[in-house]
Amino acid sequence: MKTILAIETSCDETAVAILRGRDNNPDHELLASEVASQIAAHEKYGGIVPEIASRNHLLYAPRLLDRTVSAAKIDLSKVDAFAATSGPGLASSLMIGASIAKGLAIGFGKSYLAINHLEGHLLSPFFRGVDHEDEIRPNISLIVSGGHTMLVRVHALCDYQVVARTVDDAAGEAFDKVAKMLGLGYPGGPEIEKLARNGDRNRFDLPRSMLGSENFSFSGLKTAVRYLLPKVAGLFYETPEEWRLTQTPYKFDERVLADLCASFQQAIIDVLVTKTIAAAQKYDVDLVTVSGGVSCNEELRRQLYEACGRNGFAFKNAEPWLCTDNAAMIGFAALLRLRAGFESHLTEEIDPNLALAT
Ligand code: KG4
Ligand code: ZN
Repeated sequence: MKTILAIETSCDETAVAILRGRDNNPDHELLASEVASQIAAHEKYGGIVPEIASRNHLLYAPRLLDRTVSAAKIDLSKVDAFAATSGPGLASSLMIGASIAKGLAIGFGKSYLAINHLEGHLLSPFFRGVDHEDEIRPNISLIVSGGHTMLVRVHALCDYQVVARTVDDAAGEAFDKVAKMLGLGYPGGPEIEKLARNGDRNRFDLPRSMLGSENFSFSGLKTAVRYLLPKVAGLFYETPEEWRLTQTPYKFDERVLADLCASFQQAIIDVLVTKTIAAAQKYDVDLVTVSGGVSCNEELRRQLYEACGRNGFAFKNAEPWLCTDNAAMIGFAALLRLRAGFESHLTEEIDPNLALAT
């Protein structure tokens, strides 16, 4: 029996989770998982302010640690290993979680595991599904979040090859930026998804960028929306400079707003689905997985599931509560690594640009 306590502080979510792995059984039990979001603290600045994020991690982490330990009903001295996200992410945020986990490992004389945030996302579709028949089997993994959009060829645990990434914005970033242009709240993904449910996805013709190449690009789509909005609002400008000087967001009626959201969302989904299926075909796997904040999107999950079915691939998505940043996925990755004999040295540093595969 191995008990792991994991801490995630790579961006603006402070999270702690405790998991217990069973002997001779690859499955595990989640004892407690807590997440404290800082959205409200950053919202008024229109983006994440690194210093505010790290100060808040320092404030929330000890309380969250207390709460998680009492919810799990265990004694900290019974934990076998302490894990933390070591990158990629904001340096000053990563340092908080890693320092706490290292301090606990030193204090209790236990193991320390440094976990790549992207590996946490990538393994999260297997969170409830690792049993004897279903190891981390080869798959094409779409990681789609606010900071990342990539396709990873997963050979096995710890054996990854990034086969495509975004050359500019991440898909979640595009959702957030377009939501802002439309005058919607942050994070933009859930807001756009809600409105898109009643919209016509074919009403506005938006670009599907770089369909011919493996990599992703979403900044052209964002710019196309920016140019479309004044036209849809019935405002015409002679020069791009003229509209750049105008105040957005524009006011749209409910119907138009829903159609804009549905058309934009579909443009993103088309690109994600097309490239994921093409990668699964190219690398000849029989499983496609999806994880990360944007994979909360029900329409994306549904269309990926259907496209996988049509093309003969099995499909696994992370459960919605595991899609956005959390520590349970970090603990799960740590548990699998510990079981496979990996441990990190206490001198292992955080790395804001940590690569998934070297
Ligand atoms: O994985 P995550 O919590 O953080 C990163 O590691 O980036 O992802 C957050 C991103 C945000 O950009 C948010 O707008 C997007 O995930 N997101 C969604 C949905 N829920 C969250 N995007 C589309 N549809 C959703 N339902
Ligand atoms: Zn993430």
